[in-house]
Amino acid sequence: MNSEIILDLGRQPIANKFLTSLSESDSEYFYRLKVLIERNTGLVSLKTLVPPEKMFNDDYVYHSSGSQTMRKHFKATAEKLNIEYAPQSVLEIGSNDGAFLKNWNTSIADSVEPCGNFAQITNSLGYRTLNSFWNQTTAKELDKKYELIYSANCFCHIHDLHDAFGAIKSVLSSNGVLVIEDPSLNKMVERNSYDQIYDEHAHIFSVYALDKLARSSGLRVIRVEELDIHGGSNRVYISHADSSHKVSFSVGRMLHIEKVNGVTSAAGLSNFEENVSRSKKTLYDKMHEFKKQGHKIISYGATSKSTTVFNYCGLGTDIFDYIIDVTPNKIGKYSPGMHIPVTNCSSGIPEDVTIAFLGAWNFEKEIVAKESKFLERGGIFITHVPEVREIKCTK
Ligand code: TMP
Repeated sequence: MNSEIILDLGRQPIANKFLTSLSESDSEYFYRLKVLIERNTGLVSLKTLVPPEKMFNDDYVYHSSGSQTMRKHFKATAEKLNIEYAPQSVLEIGSNDGAFLKNWNTSIADSVEPCGNFAQITNSLGYRTLNSFWNQTTAKELDKKYELIYSANCFCHIHDLHDAFGAIKSVLSSNGVLVIEDPSLNKMVERNSYDQIYDEHAHIFSVYALDKLARSSGLRVIRVEELDIHGGSNRVYISHADSSHKVSFSVGRMLHIEKVNGVTSAAGLSNFEENVSRSKKTLYDKMHEFKKQGHKIISYGATSKSTTVFNYCGLGTDIFDYIIDVTPNKIGKYSPGMHIPVTNCSSGIPEDVTIAFLGAWNFEKEIVAKESKFLERGGIFITHVPEVREIKCTK
């Protein structure tokens, strides 16, 4: 065997597939969520890959612009890349609702987006958007070279990475740069944030594995930046192997950190499953104890991550009255697998709620600031990252 299973998160539904009505539960798609590491490359991937068409289609609900944190992040990233590279041609892969793309002139920026609802938005804003998955066929259709290619939280979705990097090779200009941002395996293990794992995240990357993949397509990693975004991501800069870009010190530094932390081998990751299982038991016990004490409990943020947590830990409508979320396409629906109703939260957490699980723990700062009244009246946020803990008013 060329790979080894490192974690089993049980039976899981499509993390972003919210049910419009409970009658849809009869035909809901489930699969077994196991995670493996490839021995040769250190690439961490899902054992069972869910067909992309089941996840990324015209019903896709995740909006990049859904939080202030992400809007600011994409604007700042575009400004930074513009200052550093002043690109005359930009391609975004996985442009969602245009949160990054909007920061570039329509005359220089194109994009590729498989979800028709989003491709329509950016096309109508004047950006040439191909409504396709990223692969060699799509690259041929673009028929152009780009000085900057950007892709956030998209490469980790792509099943055939050899094809995806091969496609990059064919459209990246000779001294161009590919910048990808994806959840960091190192941070996930460090923070025990196992809920980064769900159907869309076919891979959780180490820089070690990315560099091996890039090299096998005649590319190489030239720089790495750690980001707090999405609970801990890496921004990885990649160029042609023979480009004039120097390989920055940050690459060797990150490779060293990953080696020391053991995230590049099954042996190094041997404690992860035990830590995850301990987190599950602690969270389960805590939420049941709160319920027994008569608390009114909700979840904050109908995230893909919370789909993994609720289905893995067996937390459903017996614990949560509902989930609140600002995303219009999620409101009025039911969470995947556990079928917890999702409601609007424009006026904040209702007065009678005493406990709120942070489904969107990666936006802890933004949410805690926004919901200060909840905390001031004695409300408690619960998160499981990096360990199961309470967030209370400190005043
Ligand atoms: P993500 O963790 O996958 O980025 O999803 C965040 C979800 O949380 C998204 O559905 C929007 C929701 N959300 C709120 O409802 N209110 C908030 O204040 C924030 C920051 C996010």
